[in-house]
Amino acid sequence: MGKVKTAIQGLDELIEGGYVENDVILITGGPGAGKTTFGIQYLVGGATAYNEPGVLVVMEETPARMIRDSWRFGWDIEKLVAQKKIKIIYANPFKYTKFAKTPEGSPLSVIASSKNIGEIFQQIQAEVNAIKAKRVFIDSITSLKLSTEPSEARYIVSEFIKNLEYLDCTTLMTSEIYSREAFSVEEYLSSGVIRLHVFRVGGSRVRAIEILKMRGVKHDETLHPYDIQEKGIVVHPTETVMNDEMSLFDTVGAK
Ligand SMILES: Nc1ncnc2c1ncn2[C@@H]1O[C@H](COP(=O)(O)OP(=O)(O)OP(=O)(O)O)[C@@H](O)[C@H]1O
Ligand SMILES: [Mg+2]
Repeated sequence: MGKVKTAIQGLDELIEGGYVENDVILITGGPGAGKTTFGIQYLVGGATAYNEPGVLVVMEETPARMIRDSWRFGWDIEKLVAQKKIKIIYANPFKYTKFAKTPEGSPLSVIASSKNIGEIFQQIQAEVNAIKAKRVFIDSITSLKLSTEPSEARYIVSEFIKNLEYLDCTTLMTSEIYSREAFSVEEYLSSGVIRLHVFRVGGSRVRAIEILKMRGVKHDETLHPYDIQEKGIVVHPTETVMNDEMSLFDTVGAK
């Protein structure tokens, strides 16, 4: 069973060395938990340290914003795009503006302003083939569920995940947590689920990572602290967070 390095310091050892090759892994968490950073770090790490090109699919923010925010961590996405180690697809299914072509000088390979999930998926497949990508990061799939009734949203998300499983890539995708009780369709369908918690303890915040599931892997089940540092996310696998007391302060429920 092939393993894919997470590029997050301290995380590989919690999941027996990395993600299972070709799996679809979900990263969930509330606002500002670090989901986008987690996924960009995966792509940049793959491109720079492991010779594994990656495709970034932007569904919510704009690519320009993600490129700019990545600078904070010293990640030069534009350079990696120029080197064909990363491709960016701007696939906002609810953006109605039709872009005629990629703006001059923009590192975007494609602007897929389609609302059609099938078309978006074809674009992903084409870009994966173009640079022989081994990694895909989709941020986020939450928008696929908006403006549709729940049963249709479930259908769209499940079809999307099934399609991703056919790619010869290990895919990370993000989604927001809305409710503490109910598990979402993407949590059931993904091969792995990693949850980024942000707890409030007294006056300060504690960030904790939890491997909710990782099919076929004997993974760690305790909560470990992580933080966002100058060079990205760092997990502390030897430290634990006592979630019994702190889950009361989980930002999801305490809003
Ligand atoms: N250099 C840095 N050092 C420490 N923390 C940082 C740094 N840069 C960003 N952060 C933290 O990272 C958080 C944002 O991370 P990120 O955008 O990855 O979260 P997200 O889960 O994708 O958020 P959203 O739900 O808005 O998409 C900020 O709220 C900030 O607290
Ligand atoms: Mg984000």
